[in-house]
Amino acid sequence: MIAGTTSTTPTRAVGRLFLRTAVVAGLAGLSLGIFMGASHDHTFRTVHAHINLVGWVSLFLFGLFYALLGTASTRLAKIHYGLATGGLILFAVGLPSIALGLPWGEPVAILASFATLFSMALFAYVVFTAGEAANPAAG
Ligand code: HEM
Ligand code: HEM
Repeated sequence: MIAGTTSTTPTRAVGRLFLRTAVVAGLAGLSLGIFMGASHDHTFRTVHAHINLVGWVSLFLFGLFYALLGTASTRLAKIHYGLATGGLILFAVGLPSIALGLPWGEPVAILASFATLFSMALFAYVVFTAGEAANPAAG
């Protein structure tokens, strides 16, 4: 734990939520990878790639940021969590639907794209204003 922080501050709670969601996405992404490798069916390659990268990798990085550095606005961190996980879930529904040729796959993936883009824009704001973080240990 970073000196001066406690595990009960709201921002650290959002960080933990990100970290926990990330490992769940990681388990799903790896399982899909093993299925693809074992079956030699790579139809869902893009689904696997985005669950691992938009899910496991990105969410874990977001979680580390909030858990270690904190932010001035817990409300923004919560909105960020909603957009990031919402985007991931929409990708996990939309991308396989596109691969299977379902007509509603593309609109769902477009929604996923914008949720993911907005979540990153929000995170950019959080990172750029991190110097004013509520957590005094952030320096
Ligand atoms: C249990 C572990 C994993 C297995 C068995 C696995 C399996 C696979 C398979 C079979 C493919 C398809 C390759 C192709 O069609 O050419 C693939 C693609 C891919 N995997 Fe994994 N994977 C694993 C873990 C990961 C992890 C941890 C990440 C990222 C953090 C990842 C990222 C990717 C990406 C980005 C692609 C697409 C690569 C491309 O299109 O060139 N994989 N994986
Ligand atoms: C707004 C969000 C995003 C959109 C709209 C998007 C869209 C796409 C599209 C259209 C492809 C090509 C798929 C194909 O060839 O069938 C692709 C591939 C890929 N994207 Fe994304 N992406 C997004 C976010 C990300 C992020 C955040 C990462 C990494 C952190 C990422 C990593 C990759 C990788 C590694 C591939 C190659 C995987 C493959 O060949 O299947 N993407 N993405």
